[in-house]
Amino acid sequence: MNDPRPASLPPDDGSNRVDFSAPPTSHAGALHWLADMARLCTPQRVHWCDGSEDERAALTAEAVKTGILTALDQRRLPNCHYHRSHPSDVARVEERTFICTPTKDEAGPTNNWMEPAAMYERLRTLTSGAMRGRTMYVIPYLMGPAGSPLTKVGIEVTDSIYVVLSMRVMTRMGALAWKELGEHGQFSRGLHCMLTINPEQRYIAHFPHDNTVISTNSNYGGNVLLGKKCLALRLGSWLGNREGWLAEHMLIMGVESPEGEKTYVAAAFPSACGKTNFAMLIPPKRFNGWKIWTVGDDIAWMRPGADGKLYAINPENGYFGVAPGTNGLTNPMAMATIRNNTIYTNVALTPDGDVWWEGKDGTAPMSCLDWRGNAWTPRSETKAAHPNSRFCAPMSNNPSLAPEANDPAGVPISAIIFGGRRASTYPVVMQGFNWAHGVYLGATMGSEMTAAAAGTLGQVRRDPMAMLPFCGYHMGDYFGHWLDVGKKLAHPPRIFHVNWFRKGADGHFEWPGFGENMRVLKWIIDRCHGRAIGEETPLGWMPEPGGIDLAGMENYGEPEFAAAQRIDNDEWRHELELQSELFERLSSRMPKELVYERELLRSRLGL
Ligand code: GTP
Ligand code: SPV
Ligand code: MN
Repeated sequence: MNDPRPASLPPDDGSNRVDFSAPPTSHAGALHWLADMARLCTPQRVHWCDGSEDERAALTAEAVKTGILTALDQRRLPNCHYHRSHPSDVARVEERTFICTPTKDEAGPTNNWMEPAAMYERLRTLTSGAMRGRTMYVIPYLMGPAGSPLTKVGIEVTDSIYVVLSMRVMTRMGALAWKELGEHGQFSRGLHCMLTINPEQRYIAHFPHDNTVISTNSNYGGNVLLGKKCLALRLGSWLGNREGWLAEHMLIMGVESPEGEKTYVAAAFPSACGKTNFAMLIPPKRFNGWKIWTVGDDIAWMRPGADGKLYAINPENGYFGVAPGTNGLTNPMAMATIRNNTIYTNVALTPDGDVWWEGKDGTAPMSCLDWRGNAWTPRSETKAAHPNSRFCAPMSNNPSLAPEANDPAGVPISAIIFGGRRASTYPVVMQGFNWAHGVYLGATMGSEMTAAAAGTLGQVRRDPMAMLPFCGYHMGDYFGHWLDVGKKLAHPPRIFHVNWFRKGADGHFEWPGFGENMRVLKWIIDRCHGRAIGEETPLGWMPEPGGIDLAGMENYGEPEFAAAQRIDNDEWRHELELQSELFERLSSRMPKELVYERELLRSRLGL
């Protein structure tokens, strides 16, 4: 492994020594790297995070005193706090995100690339002295339950209390991570420096060969909580390719039938396209006795088990979920989860110490402060909450948390679901004919852009497996890896494609979504267990007429569902053209199997 230390550290003249006495680890490599980071960033002091309740209380008090956090009404929202990020720093920034592999080809055409030495040098200049007069927090954390073969140790160094408090919720942080690391374990290195939040000097730089991430000039979500998208997906996918496992942008759920049969499902939807909602689904009345258990809402790490099944863990420990649209009807479990110990970012703040967002229960407050801190009333023309405003809450708050979320063995996955946000073309549900066809369904996913990333809202872009912004290597190789993993599975999960977002001519959603998605999920579960009949169509298996239980739905029946399932050849002609653009971009490393799948689809459609 290359030496990840930035070249030419400032000379050690003794002026910036920080207290490294009695460190909580004796891992020589970790201590060496941390000493280097202290020499580079020259903080006034080092704080070794232990993840304790006392530490949380002390850091929260300090954050409130310095204005980083605002305490909410502690009677109604115990231990809940409010945070505003800089208005130029409210989402992931894909154009500032880099994969720094030795060659550009390894990162592939869908990633920004810079040569590692050049990027290290640029970041060394930026981060040199970045913590002068401040505290350097050392966060040891686990991605995954302690003792799982899939779990990874990370160490994040940051100068942001907000990051420490959020990482404490999102990961398993503290002494258990040092324990898991031991004397000689591997770990991911993360350096985060807030600097001045200057968007032009913002870098989210990944060095997969060094297991390292460096993040500068941001203090928002996926840019800075380095265990999440940076480690769990970008470095994770690269490591998974080497080590024979999959790091995916997927929720994991357990579906329990009234008879007590439990089936585990993983689903990849792009950012802000419904993972958290689906993972916490409450079945409609018709499905009395059915129960959805949440294993994870954003990330799945999956590997073939000795029994030939695919096992998944959720590496996270909390939810960093989209606030707008979350209410007691769309997602009651999320509402129950965010009542205590929650950090809210960029929502609106009411005068009585509560939070509000567009689409929350009840009416809008008569007056409040919006996500920028400006006075807001229902007559204002701007939104009170930023569309990408979020809650950060411990998963242990979730009344539907699956006990298996803490099981080091993970859960065996029976179904993988891919789904984009598509106003046209894609039916509500279909099933791939086999693993390779399923991989093709994932690889050709498209979705309309959302507020979760800076960019053009609503524009359809290819987002293979919801991983376009998160794959740490060449997307063509990534598809090849998916095909390889399938070959190692004697009992591969069945693969499905869903679209909750198809719209009719008048712009209404052709499928009601949310809790009603249970009806589609039931068909998926039954298909996995060989209990539901499918109808072969050019696109894949679809439910036969009457195959989806629509009983008890208001103003919705077979004709409406059939309309939402329709195959329109003009739409598909256009879709295949869009797919071709991606195939051409990746052509040098596109697996042949997927090229065949596209040709087969074309001929089945008669196009
Ligand atoms: P990230 O955390 O960014 O990865 O997002 P996510 O995939 O977890 O998305 P989330 O569940 O937070 O949903 C985002 C938005 O999608 C919500 O505000 C809802 O408005 C909308 N949404 C979720 N599920 C459905 C659905 O079944 N139908 C419709 N029409 N909209 C949905
Ligand atoms: C996403 O954008 O997919 C998220 C939010 O889950 S962030 O942590 O900012 O990546
Ligand atoms: Mn996500």
